[in-house]
Amino acid sequence: MLREETAIPEKSLMNSVAPLAPSASSALLRAEGWRPPAPALRSNLAIGLRILFQRSPDLLQTLPRDCYTKDIITVPVGKRPVFIVNHPETIRRILTEDRANYPKSDLMVSALSPLLGDGVLISSGELWEHDRQMLEPAFMHMRLAHMFPDMREAVHDFVERLQLLEKDAVVDLESELTHVTADIMLRTIFSKPIGAARADAVFEAFSSFQKNSPQFQLQHVLASDPRKPALPSTELMRDASILRDLLAAMLDERLELNSQGKVFVDFAQAVVDARDAEGLPFSREKIIDQLAVFFLAGHETTASSLCWTFFMLSQQPHVLIKLRGEIRAVLGDRPFEFDDFKSLGFMRDVFRESLRLYPPAAFLTRHALHEDQFGRLKVPADSFIVISPWLIHRHHAYWPQADRFIPERFDVNAGAPVPGTYLPFGLGTRACTGATIAQLEASLILCEVLRRFSFVPLNASTVFPVSRVSVRPSEGIRCRVEKNNTV
Ligand code: HEM
Repeated sequence: MLREETAIPEKSLMNSVAPLAPSASSALLRAEGWRPPAPALRSNLAIGLRILFQRSPDLLQTLPRDCYTKDIITVPVGKRPVFIVNHPETIRRILTEDRANYPKSDLMVSALSPLLGDGVLISSGELWEHDRQMLEPAFMHMRLAHMFPDMREAVHDFVERLQLLEKDAVVDLESELTHVTADIMLRTIFSKPIGAARADAVFEAFSSFQKNSPQFQLQHVLASDPRKPALPSTELMRDASILRDLLAAMLDERLELNSQGKVFVDFAQAVVDARDAEGLPFSREKIIDQLAVFFLAGHETTASSLCWTFFMLSQQPHVLIKLRGEIRAVLGDRPFEFDDFKSLGFMRDVFRESLRLYPPAAFLTRHALHEDQFGRLKVPADSFIVISPWLIHRHHAYWPQADRFIPERFDVNAGAPVPGTYLPFGLGTRACTGATIAQLEASLILCEVLRRFSFVPLNASTVFPVSRVSVRPSEGIRCRVEKNNTV
């Protein structure tokens, strides 16, 4: 089904990236890590048969072995050329100096626009530049030190909820983590906690939105025509409007309070007060678009990465013991303080490894506006370009024991990854604005939960990743919550 292209043979290109330090890579090659759940690598033929005979296989199940070993893969069927790009230098070029030729793909935009409108995650070109400039003052509210008190309150409430559970209670891990991460974002955006009913509504609506989103169904990618964007389904519109209505109601409440002279200092207020160079504000719809971007990009991804981290720790007791040892050594009995995340080196390595194996944004997709050249390979205008953190993070040329969980590979002494091969937060001017927030948040949640509780999965043997808007466990992860006082 997929064809390998030896498109970038130039020695100079390949030599422009530094390999892993030899000592580190050979030590890792000897290490016996655990292989967390992921599709087995299969030949083109086996994948072709799966696509023919299995109805709507998940996209992660349709990537043959070549995608994990080659530089560039082309897909020789479908309405437009598709290029899967694994070559670090070409990835860098697409996402940085040539980004004007590679706006966000029409497929990504049409899948997410019912929810995010024209928000900055999916807009491109002049519109994106204009809106990002307008949002600049609002970013003050997304600074680490600014957000930390809200984060701590939300995590404190999360721990209290877990404390109140009956002995051996069973929870859905994703739903719990979505509750706490959505709570953090709503407190930052609107200075309000989320509340249990609203948290459940958000989780339900966004889970359903992800299921109904056609963005990452292979048939949809192959059948789509860039000149005729597909209309979103009624289900997708319904799920999106549940989430937008929630934000719209909170915004209208805020505007009403503003009209009574009440002043607020938070992200939502800064977006309401934002003005462009001509002194014009965002329209109400555009404010909702931007709030939706920050609310959704800011909580769903972090929840997904934490879910995989807790799952992998539950399956690897020796890593969990080492991590709890670090927490005890750094924090003792006191609460997590803002600066602590810098001292929790192993915690950082565990989270990085989790983002490597399960990058929430598995596929960053772009649209080639004009013809281009990848090495000797011609890239026609309108090509669909796929840069996949999922693939490049598991690429055999760049990661020893690529499919194994080995947090130590990120140890400072282990040598840095090849530039352009580790992209959980994207790259260049369109990279994630919340990368350090996510890392601080993850450290805080992992610390405060692990020192008091263990999540014991009841369906560990069937946990398996699927690619939706973020990478999720296909059937969720049901966990028994055990209270412990071991840290
Ligand atoms: C583990 C957590 C997170 C991951 C893995 C993640 C990943 C990403 C990635 C890969 C992109 C770039 C997408 C592309 O190039 O097509 C992105 C963009 C973005 N992220 Fe995140 N993100 C995370 C958390 C957050 C948080 C906590 C916030 C906000 C507080 C946030 C806000 C954004 C925004 C606003 C953009 C769009 C930037 C722009 O294009 O102007 N993200 N994220």
